[in-house]
Amino acid sequence: MRKIIIIGADGQLGTDLMIELEKRNDLQSVGSTIADLDVTDFEGVRKRLTAEAPDIVVNTAAYHRVDEVETNAAKAFLVNVEAVFNMAKVCGELNCALAHFSTDYVFGGPPEEMPYIESDCPRPESIYAVSRLAGEYVIEPYCEKHFVIRSCGLYGHAGPMGKSSNFVETMLKLAQSGKPIRVVNDQRCTPTFTRHLAQKVIELVTSDKYGLFHMTNTGDCTWYEFAKKIFELAGVEADLSPCTTAEYPTPAKRPAYSVLDNMALRNHGFADLPHWHDALAEYLRDRKTK
Ligand SMILES: NC(=O)c1ccc[n+]([C@@H]2O[C@H](COP(=O)([O-])OP(=O)(O)OC[C@H]3O[C@@H](n4cnc5c(N)ncnc54)[C@H](OP(=O)(O)O)[C@@H]3O)[C@@H](O)[C@H]2O)c1
Repeated sequence: MRKIIIIGADGQLGTDLMIELEKRNDLQSVGSTIADLDVTDFEGVRKRLTAEAPDIVVNTAAYHRVDEVETNAAKAFLVNVEAVFNMAKVCGELNCALAHFSTDYVFGGPPEEMPYIESDCPRPESIYAVSRLAGEYVIEPYCEKHFVIRSCGLYGHAGPMGKSSNFVETMLKLAQSGKPIRVVNDQRCTPTFTRHLAQKVIELVTSDKYGLFHMTNTGDCTWYEFAKKIFELAGVEADLSPCTTAEYPTPAKRPAYSVLDNMALRNHGFADLPHWHDALAEYLRDRKTK
């Protein structure tokens, strides 16, 4: 039976990966949190992975507080690059596969009209995005069997149940407060439900179709359009209005357009992920029963 280790097993995506893996009786899953193993510690990574002897390592760990990174680049390069090198080096030595996550933020520049495909040239616009792109590049020289998966705008049930919140929960909480809500209407991407991402990740990493993959729900929207849909589907009244990025400045620059096309997945014969409308409806439906 093949053994998969999930690094960051208590995160948003890590939690859904563990839930989906439990449904598979042909795979043995092991969850690892930062309390068990800090992936910035090379000897720790080597010791743990050697002891576990996994077939596949899935790394969801990242330092992705985008604005904080502007003043803490060292930590971003430690977690988003050096730790990835640690895992790539050890996975290469053990001849196991490494799946690693990256982000739509590797793209930037003037708004495009076409979703980005995997062969498009990245253009990171923040130190966070640079660290994530460097993390992508550090794998291939050390680990032949690898998957680099770029996704976007994750939300999952583990977010609000655990330590952090996600955009959907933040919007619903704000609506409850009755305060006016302004959301940027000039940043276009594809929010992605971690359950759908986890299901597709498991399909992919248990194949031998190694390489770079875009993996988001399908369709696209601005964050304002996403917020509008959240309130519509949740049947919640909210004082919502659009704003521009210029009116809502943040320390780190965000791409105006970072829609990803899951072309490599389709080319390898995988079915596409559901549309973001359906993903959001499913998330909200399940939320009611929790
Ligand atoms: N969230 C998004 O909108 C988004 C968008 C595009 C791509 N992604 C990428 O998708 C992946 C999963 O995202 P997510 O939202 O599931 O992230 P998450 O909820 O923050 O989960 C990441 C997990 O990794 C752990 N971790 C952090 N540093 C670690 C270290 N040095 N050693 C071991 N574990 C460590 C975190 O623990 P602590 O919380 O205790 O630090 C957390 O449990 C990440 O690579 C992320 O950058 C996310």
